[in-house]
Amino acid sequence: MKVLVTGGLGFIGSHTVVELLEENNDVIIVDNLYNSKIEVLGKLETISGNSIKFYQYDLLDKEKLDEIFAENEIDSVIHFAGYKAVGESVREPLMYYTNNLISTLNLLEVMKKYNVKKIVFSSSATVYGEQESPKYVETMKRGETASPYGTTKAMIEKMLEDLYASDNSWNITILRYFNPVGAHKSGLIGEEPNGIPNNLMPYVMKVAAGKLEQLSIFGNDYPTPDGTGVRDYIHVVDLAKGHVKALQNSPDGLNVYNLGSGKGVSVLELVTTFERVNELKVNYKIVDRRPGDLPEYYADPTKALKELDWKTEKTLEDICKDTWNYQKNNI
Ligand code: UFG
Repeated sequence: MKVLVTGGLGFIGSHTVVELLEENNDVIIVDNLYNSKIEVLGKLETISGNSIKFYQYDLLDKEKLDEIFAENEIDSVIHFAGYKAVGESVREPLMYYTNNLISTLNLLEVMKKYNVKKIVFSSSATVYGEQESPKYVETMKRGETASPYGTTKAMIEKMLEDLYASDNSWNITILRYFNPVGAHKSGLIGEEPNGIPNNLMPYVMKVAAGKLEQLSIFGNDYPTPDGTGVRDYIHVVDLAKGHVKALQNSPDGLNVYNLGSGKGVSVLELVTTFERVNELKVNYKIVDRRPGDLPEYYADPTKALKELDWKTEKTLEDICKDTWNYQKNNI
């Protein structure tokens, strides 16, 4: 299958490209390098032993996007490209709405023009908002999103639903990720946030590497077993494989799947596991809660197992080892 991967040099996109090539798909990447580096392309070629067709285009430029579809017989698209920093989206909502929504609209219009109607969309557990139960299942209604970033994901899901309702020859798969972490075992690709990280794992990594002094743990008075926040951390390679399974096994129509492990892990549990498996210390202090954080949520991943034949295989230990291996390789 010839797959166009938007945002294919980013964290999740790059790992997905590796898994797609492993399964003998033909891959084309489009990425504007806003939040990724061109060196990743060479690393992907090293890991896979393939040369990869790459376009440095911005999806906001519809004419350029059209060129890609005119030049290549694309069968399907995995759409990762988008801004993703929660805090920045609160400060710059217009930038987030413009970029994430218009780029997706351009993509869908060009896909329609070329009659390419199979898409996998990179959504987020954030679209559930706050629910009665911390175990999120796809039958729950989308909730109140906590940031403009989350709202762009929810709005795109809605756009895709409307598109499908208008023409049910589309095959649309919406994947709701829980907390993607980890890195490829080669140590060549991993997460490279710009500036000071907002997310837990990249922050832990930088503290362990001595690049940042101390981790702040946001609250230890939540109603969770040790008082710190609980999330479902998913190894990026498991997540990447979920995309390949979605392309292969998604039934006809529009389908939504949680991609998570189904297991909640607290901030302290993650930090102490990171220390234990890598035999090092992570300097931390407990501070106030971060506004907007929920105490606890994790996936019910049953549907993905049943319909896509996918489940996570990596453990929290693998996640911590692979993250540190990447950091050590890239100091
Ligand atoms: N945390 C800390 N210290 C830090 C960073 C995070 O204690 O320096 C805690 C948070 O309070 C939370 C947990 O670690 O309990 C995870 O926080 P992250 O920032 O790593 O992740 P979030 O769950 O807040 O956000 C993630 C994704 C978003 C997505 C959201 C909802 O980063 O893209 O899940 O699914 F929108």
